[in-house]
Amino acid sequence: MPSPLLEAARAAYTQAFGLEPTILAQAPGRVELLGNHTDYNGGLVLATAIDRGTVIAGRPTPEREGQVHSTGFADPDRFDLEALEPGEPGTWGRYVRGVVWALRETHGPLQGGFQAAIAGDVPLGAGLSSSASLQAALALFLLKAGVAGQATDLDDPARMALAKLLRRGENEFVGVQSGLLDQFSVLFGRADMALSLDCRSLEYERLSLGTPPPAIVICDSKTSRRLADGMYNQRRAECERVVSFFQAKRGTEAVTWLRDLTVDELEEAWSQLDTIGRIRARHVLTENERVQQGAEALRAGDSARLGELMSDSHSSSRDDFGNSSSYLEALIESAEEAPGYLGGKLSGAGWAGCTVNLVDAAQADDFAEAVRHHYTKRTAIVPDVHICHAAAGASEL
Ligand code: GLA
Repeated sequence: MPSPLLEAARAAYTQAFGLEPTILAQAPGRVELLGNHTDYNGGLVLATAIDRGTVIAGRPTPEREGQVHSTGFADPDRFDLEALEPGEPGTWGRYVRGVVWALRETHGPLQGGFQAAIAGDVPLGAGLSSSASLQAALALFLLKAGVAGQATDLDDPARMALAKLLRRGENEFVGVQSGLLDQFSVLFGRADMALSLDCRSLEYERLSLGTPPPAIVICDSKTSRRLADGMYNQRRAECERVVSFFQAKRGTEAVTWLRDLTVDELEEAWSQLDTIGRIRARHVLTENERVQQGAEALRAGDSARLGELMSDSHSSSRDDFGNSSSYLEALIESAEEAPGYLGGKLSGAGWAGCTVNLVDAAQADDFAEAVRHHYTKRTAIVPDVHICHAAAGASEL
């Protein structure tokens, strides 16, 4: 975690509360390398935590109140810990309260309150999970401060339990029906490692990205996905329609998720399925196969192959899942013309935000320069380009 962020959080705390912070915690953002819209379909994902993140600095207090400042937003947030109800208005504050709520639901009443300042450098609304980064950093801060549960060195089973708890906060308190990908990735990351997760069994594996690892270059189209928020839940419904079709044929025991189907089974039923649902399902099922192939490629030390699979994934998202946009296409085409490109795809929900590209590390600067040039020429928008590396998951500092 870059220390400027730590200093920014520390300084923001001191400025707001007039004291030095006693507790510091951090969590990274994440990118999905493969497995687009597979997580809530019980499928497979390949992701990494990235070296952009969130730092929280603060202190526990005896008052039963949370007071939070963020360097990214003008208005601080202040709330009564006893009076948290799901569905409250607000944006980042809702994530903060959602974490407190989920900890309280799981561990019982909090032991006191807290004052904290947040600094982060994960671009917001860009598909890099600034929200899960904030959630995980705050949860570790509250655990270490002794406000919720016990301070612990979190082992993997405890991290998985925390990932589920934070997902519950996002699903039930914030009201976003996301899968486990984001919270899992920001808690399980390791330097230079990819993470594969089976969202049905929750089995996971950390896989080396190679020696030297390729750079993970994130290109931000500077278009926001908030414009398309309802699309995420619509895609979920389209996937569920296909599940219902197979459940009617084979029973709910046999089919719970799209993951329980094979590409062959889908093709056999092709003419009986609705024309939208079947291509959405084809994306998800072929994407599961690409994750398996990507994990194989990494086990064989072949990151170039992973890059090709990412490009195949992007085509499938665009053509079958329908979650690209003209701006994301311009970014991908710009990357294809740039030096060192191994492959790339849209990241996260899609429709706007970022692409994630695998790039030969030695050529990452030239790649970034070329993408800036091509994309600006095509769209008159100057993209943000972040040269990232796979990073460690959430930790106390
Ligand atoms: C968003 C969600 C994730 C996942 C991706 C698409 O980032 O938060 O849970 O569904 O979209 O793969």
